[in-house]
Amino acid sequence: MTELIAAAASTPALEQARTFADLHLAPEILAAIEAMGYSTPTPIQSQAIPLVLAGRDLLAQAQTGTGKTAAFALPLLHRLRGFANTSTSPARHPVRALVLAPTRELAIQVHESVVDYGQRMPLRSTVVYGGAGMKEQTDALRGGVEILVATPGRLLDHAGSKVVNLAQVQFLVLDEADRMLDMGFLPDLKRILELLPKARQTLLFSATFSDDILRLSGQFLHEPQKVEVARRNTAAETVEQVGYRVPEADKLDALLRLVKARGLTQAIVFTRTKLTADKLGRQLQKRGVAAAIIHGDKAQVERLTALDGFKKGEIQLLVATDIAARGLDIAELPAVFNYELPYHAEDYVHRIGRTGRAGASGLAVSLIGKEEEKLLAGVERFIQRSLRIDSLPEPARSIGHEPRSEPQSEPQSEAGRAASSSRPAADALPAPEQPDALPNPDYKRGQKAAVCALFMPFPRSAS
Ligand SMILES: Nc1ncnc2c1ncn2[C@@H]1O[C@H](COP(=O)(O)OP(=O)(O)OP(=O)(O)O)[C@@H](O)[C@H]1O
Ligand SMILES: [Mg+2]
Repeated sequence: MTELIAAAASTPALEQARTFADLHLAPEILAAIEAMGYSTPTPIQSQAIPLVLAGRDLLAQAQTGTGKTAAFALPLLHRLRGFANTSTSPARHPVRALVLAPTRELAIQVHESVVDYGQRMPLRSTVVYGGAGMKEQTDALRGGVEILVATPGRLLDHAGSKVVNLAQVQFLVLDEADRMLDMGFLPDLKRILELLPKARQTLLFSATFSDDILRLSGQFLHEPQKVEVARRNTAAETVEQVGYRVPEADKLDALLRLVKARGLTQAIVFTRTKLTADKLGRQLQKRGVAAAIIHGDKAQVERLTALDGFKKGEIQLLVATDIAARGLDIAELPAVFNYELPYHAEDYVHRIGRTGRAGASGLAVSLIGKEEEKLLAGVERFIQRSLRIDSLPEPARSIGHEPRSEPQSEPQSEAGRAASSSRPAADALPAPEQPDALPNPDYKRGQKAAVCALFMPFPRSAS
């Protein structure tokens, strides 16, 4: 029977529960946690870790950015410590824990966390994902690993060519479990489950679980315990959420104006389609903004370069489809924009959860077009609250700035055209103008100057 362990809905995401030492984790793991700079476990960690250590199957839900990765990785490492050995024989290193994630970038990140947390233990791990060469992955698998992090498709490729044997897997983790159990991944997941022993411990983690997925998950779990931190389907409380009603044609202008008005050093800008992501990314680049694009049709190397540049602070606006919505942990990202609302309401929670992580504050802005009212209603139903709707800030005019009423000699940008086109009176946008948040029309001559006008210096060191 499913047992519910619910923390009070008001529990702050990073409230001090007790110490990591109280969780009886091995000294090597405690030392690694200390090296990571974690002082106290988060609520999901305090609640999930003892259950994983006790061998229970788990259905664990906690807000975005509250440390779910460590909530499964730390007790897994603890339970695997008896298998740690320095033998060079691959036979001494069968896969004992399998962690599945929906995207390549997330798989890589989860593996990095496993490496960090397990740095003081002679346990081997690797990550396999699509879009990258097979050879390196094959070599790592043939050498033997105790912990394997993978995206499903590539794992099946390796299993199909007998490079990896999953018959000794004792622990299965589905990160972003509701995504892994949805129609897109379910067929692959079922094929993987057939390769695993029936007697194993299965752990499901996500910030969101729909009723359908909760029902479905019962098929994969044995007497699971359900851990639910805070109200279901919520991003961290530290994310400020606000919406603006903006006609499609004015969204670029609105985005740039808000970036300026809020002094945002960086943001992820989510679109619904790859096409819009490409178009918006190009428009931003043309205006001299350091923008990069990440979506499923990009080569893996381009995806990783874009994400890496963003993490280092070289990229200021990362235009992304929902491929970047789940799990990615970008330190102190100040803001997320929904340039278009997502089709699936749960993606809203994951998208905005890229900011406001680990107790930091964050801003989530949704630009709501006329055609998106239904999507907004779906999001509000899902998060069980209505979104605060604001009016766009008036553009701040710098001293000596000449309002430009004359037609531009260069062809106008889309936003420029939109700004001078007529708008319905009910529109939340301020009167048509040439906001100085928009790059100077001379941007082709001085792209760098336009960037400086848009963004404050980025203070973070490369991570
Ligand atoms: N106990 C802790 N104290 C301080 N920071 C922590 C702690 N646990 C995890 N973190 C940090 O919090 C950040 C978010 O962790 P993590 O990515 O595991 O969140 P998550 O709950 O999986 O979020 P998402 O739902 O978006 O996947 C990471 O940078 C991680 O290093
Ligand atoms: Mg996560």
